[in-house]
Parts: sequence; C-alpha cells; structure tokens
Amino acid sequence: MRQNEAHTDIRILAIESSCDETAAAVVANGRKVLSNVISSQIDIHTLYGGVVPEIASRKHIERINQVVQQALDDAQMSLDEMDAVAVTYGPGLVGALLVGVAEAKAIAWAKNLPFIGVHHIEGHISANYIEHPDLEPPFGCLVVSGGHTHLVRVKDYGEYEILGKTADDAAGEAFDKVARAIGLGYPGGPKIDKAARSGDPLAIEFPHGKVRGSEYDFSFSGLKSAVLNYLNDKKMKGVQIRTEDVAASFQKSVVDVLVGHSEAAIREYGFRKFAIAGGVASNSALREAMEAMCRKRQVEFYRPSPILCTDNAAMIGAAAYYEYIKGVRSDWSLNAIPNLKLGER
Ligand code: KG4
Ligand code: ZN
Repeated sequence: MRQNEAHTDIRILAIESSCDETAAAVVANGRKVLSNVISSQIDIHTLYGGVVPEIASRKHIERINQVVQQALDDAQMSLDEMDAVAVTYGPGLVGALLVGVAEAKAIAWAKNLPFIGVHHIEGHISANYIEHPDLEPPFGCLVVSGGHTHLVRVKDYGEYEILGKTADDAAGEAFDKVARAIGLGYPGGPKIDKAARSGDPLAIEFPHGKVRGSEYDFSFSGLKSAVLNYLNDKKMKGVQIRTEDVAASFQKSVVDVLVGHSEAAIREYGFRKFAIAGGVASNSALREAMEAMCRKRQVEFYRPSPILCTDNAAMIGAAAYYEYIKGVRSDWSLNAIPNLKLGER
C-alpha cells in the first residue's frame, strides 16, 4: 500500500511560477498550509525597474528544484505522501509559467500522481479559504494584482462570473508606474502604501476612472496620465512636489474606485460575504476602506494576510483541492497559457 492511501487528508504539492516568485507549498484539504516556500526574485528585477521575463524564467529554472524540496522538508513529508501535484498554468509570463508546468508534470509523471492545472486568479481568490476556514461560496471577490483587476461573483467552488475587469492597466500596474514616476522605485505598491501614510489624500484631486457603459469595469490609465501630467506641470513651474501627498492622493483615487465598484456589486447581487485578493489586497488603505464599507452594508468582509495576497503556491494548493474533489484532472498535454481566461480550462 502506498503511504498516501493510509490517511484521509488530501495533500497537494502546489507550484507557482507565473511571474517573479518561485513558490511551492504543501496544503492539506485545501485549507491547511503545511508549508509555503516563496523565493522572490525582486532584488534582481529591481535593478531593471520591473520584471524582465527572460531573467524571471532563468531564475525559476535555477531555483525550482530547491524550492520544491524545501516545501516538502518544511512539511516534513516526502513525495510519496502527496495525493496530487498542482501548478499554475496561466495567466502569466509564458516562459515563467512553463518552468512550473514542466516541474509539476515531471514530478506527477515520476510518482504516478494526479496532476491539476490551476488558474492563477482562482488561486488568489482561494487564498481566502486558507485564511478563513468558515468561508464558503457564494461571495463577491475583488481580485487586484500586478496583472489583474477583476470583480468576480464566486458562485461555487471553481464557478466564477466576471462582473468587471480593467480596460487598460491593472491596479497594481498603476501603483508600480506611479511609484516609478515619483521616484519611489520598484515594487511600487508597498512603497506608495508606506509613503501615503504621511501624506494628505485630499491634497490633489485625481480623476476616478470610469468606463463608459460598463458599471463594473475599471480604467486606471487616465489616472496614471493625470499623475504624470501633474508631475510635469509642477516640474515646468519649478514647484517642489510632496511625494507623500501625490502617493496618498493617487492611492485614494484607486481605492475610491475599487470600493465604489465593489459596493455597487454588493447592492446589485446581494452578496452577504465579500473578499479581496491579490497583491494590491495587502494595501492598508484598501483594506480599511473595504472593511468600513462592508461593515456599513452588514456584509462579512474577508481578506488574506499580506503573505497570502502576493503570489504564493499555498493559494494554488487551496484552489486545486476543490478541483481534485470534483474529479478534475489535467493531462500531459497541459501547456502554459499566458492569457488564460478565468473559468476556462
Ligand atoms: O498578486 P501579485 O503578487 O502578482 C500578480 O499576480 O500580479 O501582485 C503584485 C502587485 C504589484 O503590482 C505590487 O506593487 C502590488 O501587487 N502590491 C501592492 C501592495 N503590495 C503589493 N499594491 C498596493 N499596496 C500594497 N501594499
Ligand atoms: Zn498574482
């Protein structure tokens, strides 16, 4: 008898390599994290002011085996004790995704384990299952990361309806670009968050991007241009800017729009529970404003702790569990899909 037939827990080894984090985790029954290893490449990409895809792929290749081994060691388990292998297969940088997909396939093949491809956004949403063992669908979820801004209706495990998404830049992308423009560097989100704490959010009135005819879609490129215009204007006039005020005013504009759209969706769809997810969900102003809005509307509010908001593999293990118990399996032809849509397989 194989060891994994002797226990009732479903243990999943999960791998995530869609952008600049090489990550692996062991998760039991979708909710219990036995290990969560994240090897960040941020130091290298900081030198270039953003993620360089070729470097990301190369670093994933260099690190993936050690990261997987570390995840098993931290969980004090071997591959023989795993029930399945899961991996992010999209969306993301194709060369980066491929490293994780190849690693997961190789392990699953060698150990004769079921193999499950997971959508990255589904992973972000599922980070909430880890943090909140009581949370079950249906609920509304705002997914805000460096690559995505989605307002999602989570109808059931693995069943999603996209209510709105960004027409141009993602929320995190806007944070990163504005941070670069005001000299805060990369990655911008946490730096703007910090600077904004000593700034005045009402100092400058930046626009609240709207997308004509679609209530739940987002647009952040106009806001980004407004910040750049403001900076150029002040520079030409020789007026010193207060970085903290620009950061706080920009952040307020983003948060107002995110909270406003979420509140409108709560009203229309009658969500009793609302969650946030993705890297930008660790933003302190967003967390506070969302929490206040949900309290006002008597809606239960959920958010992962910051380490589960940014890219990690534990969230992929959580999402994979619900696919696993439904009987979903990927086959060996699974490929990396850089623009994979949520809800597609
Ligand atoms: O989810 P994530 O790790 O990667 C993607 O799937 O994109 O998100 C990274 C993004 C970056 O744009 C980063 O600047 C942003 O999340 N971010 C934040 C904060 N922490 C990370 N944005 C605003 N405030 C933060 N505290
Ligand atoms: Zn992500």
